Amino acid sequence: MTALTALVSLCLTFVIYRLAKRLVAPQSPLARISGPPKEHWLKGNLHKLFKDGLSYNLALQEEFGGAVRIYGLFGEEQLYVSDPLALQHIVGRDQHIYEETDMFIMGNKIILGEGLVSTLGEQHRKQRKMLNPVFSFANMRVMLPIIAPIADKLRARLLEQLPSDGSHEVNLLPWISRGALEYICQAGLGYSFNALEPSQNHEYTEAIKSLAPTFLRILLLRPLVPVIVRNFSLYWRNKLVDWLPIAPMKELRRLVLVMDRCCRDIFFEKKQAFSRLGGNEKSNTVNERDVGARMMDKDIMSILLRANASSSQADGLTESEILGQMNTIVVAGFDTTTSATCRILHILATKPDVQNRLRREIRQGKLEYRASQGLSDEHGWEDVHLPYDSLMALPYLDAVVRETLRVHPPTSLLGRTTRQGTTLPLSRPVRSTSGEEITSIAMPSGTNIIISILAANHNKEVWGPDASVWRPERWLNSSGERVGANSISQEAAAANNGDIKYPGVYSSMMTFLGGGRACIGFKFAEMEMKQVIASLISVMHFSPPEIYWRMDGFQVPVLRSPTGIDTEAQMPLSIRLVRDTDFAG
Ligand code: HEM
Ligand SMILES: *[C@@H]1O[C@H](CO)[C@@H](O)[C@H](O)[C@H]1NC(C)=O
Ligand SMILES: *[C@@H]1O[C@H](CO)[C@@H](O)[C@H](O)[C@H]1NC(C)=O
Ligand SMILES: *[C@@H]1O[C@H](CO)[C@@H](O)[C@H](O)[C@H]1NC(C)=O
Repeated sequence: MTALTALVSLCLTFVIYRLAKRLVAPQSPLARISGPPKEHWLKGNLHKLFKDGLSYNLALQEEFGGAVRIYGLFGEEQLYVSDPLALQHIVGRDQHIYEETDMFIMGNKIILGEGLVSTLGEQHRKQRKMLNPVFSFANMRVMLPIIAPIADKLRARLLEQLPSDGSHEVNLLPWISRGALEYICQAGLGYSFNALEPSQNHEYTEAIKSLAPTFLRILLLRPLVPVIVRNFSLYWRNKLVDWLPIAPMKELRRLVLVMDRCCRDIFFEKKQAFSRLGGNEKSNTVNERDVGARMMDKDIMSILLRANASSSQADGLTESEILGQMNTIVVAGFDTTTSATCRILHILATKPDVQNRLRREIRQGKLEYRASQGLSDEHGWEDVHLPYDSLMALPYLDAVVRETLRVHPPTSLLGRTTRQGTTLPLSRPVRSTSGEEITSIAMPSGTNIIISILAANHNKEVWGPDASVWRPERWLNSSGERVGANSISQEAAAANNGDIKYPGVYSSMMTFLGGGRACIGFKFAEMEMKQVIASLISVMHFSPPEIYWRMDGFQVPVLRSPTGIDTEAQMPLSIRLVRDTDFAG
């Protein structure tokens, strides 16, 4: 009871404090930038942006351009940015000014530990210096052979469910997700949790899967995190969670404890094995007992431990910093690639010609590789594992992955806050509320901004008038070869004379961001998705459910796919309530 009173009064104090701060605050220079009306006294426009916000987000850029004034919590003015020059400043030149918010950093630190997404400034830079080389092309080449057999195992799991002829509807999401967990745990931590054996659920993978949904249930409490972390010690924070009748908060703590314990176990085991090996020796000297379920030296953590051991005292990371990377890498690399892989499969299912062309290319690539290696054709081409460079060089696969990540970025919106006053230049002017053109925006210290990866990737000025159309050909020249991996499509270059470019690390699109906090795992993500797609579509055809009326004397609806007709009668349709627009003539 006392604790509840304490929390209620803390929340009330917070609300009153924020409202009072809003009332006495000088008018923000952002107030004169055009933007949508405030849609809620507390949530401003945030609920529209963050809750099923696809069309709302795209409409903002369409109507107001590359810098839009929106309202955040308590009606605070924020800037919603997709302008290329502005983003060059935000993630590049002025990235020390546009930092992650305290809420993000402190929340991540409590949940994941002291990894890359929980640190700022010099400490973050030091961690990146140690970790960037771990994600090099050379290390990706070494990691692909860890991933390929897992993708084959996923494929086998799916094949088990198919009848020998005819088709079968499979809910792919949980399978793609189990696969993604298994790649990142084996290649990231060097540990298998048997995520592709649903009967052997491990507490770590269960915790990772429940993390995001549990976190979302208490999202509204997130702004309180910095206040609580600054004002309560760990002891009192635990007491708060004990006393407060907020179930998801207790659950979140349980998940954090499980994740922490599992990572510690793996880490200390690895460290012990590592010191037995004397650090730099190769894995062929490891005895069988040490290897077990663990691959000793090709995973991200092992590479990181080696890099740390050979670093200078000044560059080295503490144990807590290395431990913190474990959960960080798993969490950052799991939901994101699951979403992207499902999106690719969904697109392939709805575009059978694209799917066939891709399958032809993969077969061709595998046949050529098998021949070049003088391998016998006693094993089917489907089972050939392409090495990293051959897999990456397949032009159509590359175009399909690239275009999907551009049009459908899994993480669409990121927050930043200015740590000092500055000016933000724009490549294209926006309008003020009174109609004047604005080419640069004054940003006082503490201004919150939203980086719109989605709007940037759909910017017609940069990607051409068909920016929102999914068209993999934009990444290929007329003979079907890749245009340089880092150049934007030719039409796009023509549309803006090639002078406006986004600072993204991946084909200058913003999907993986750019600058010092760009996604460190983008090469890994690209490799993983290409391997899974190549593995699956070599032997499986995907199609959306299509209803077929079979007349067995009596007419029955069944599902039809190009491979056959189901026997079980079913009628899957998506239904919703009638809206006014449904009467439009
Ligand atoms: C399609 C898949 C992925 C997408 C779309 C994606 C996207 C992103 C984005 C937009 C950021 C910047 C976040 C921010 O600044 O707030 C980021 C950061 C990060 N990503 Fe990824 N990511 C993907 C896959 C991965 C994978 C597979 C890994 C690990 C192997 C990974 C590890 C990380 C880490 C550690 C960071 C933090 C970097 C830092 O702050 O220095 N990501 N990612
Ligand atoms: C409590 O948190 C607020 C907000 O972060 C901070 O300004 C204040 O200094 C903290 N108080 C103490 C005693 O640390
Ligand atoms: C990493 O290297 C530093 C500096 O060489 C060392 O002090 C530290 O103990 C190492 N960390 C781990 C976890 O081995
Ligand atoms: C397409 O690109 C390839 C490789 O860069 C090049 O060899 C070829 O000539 C190009 N074809 C056309 C029609 O531009």
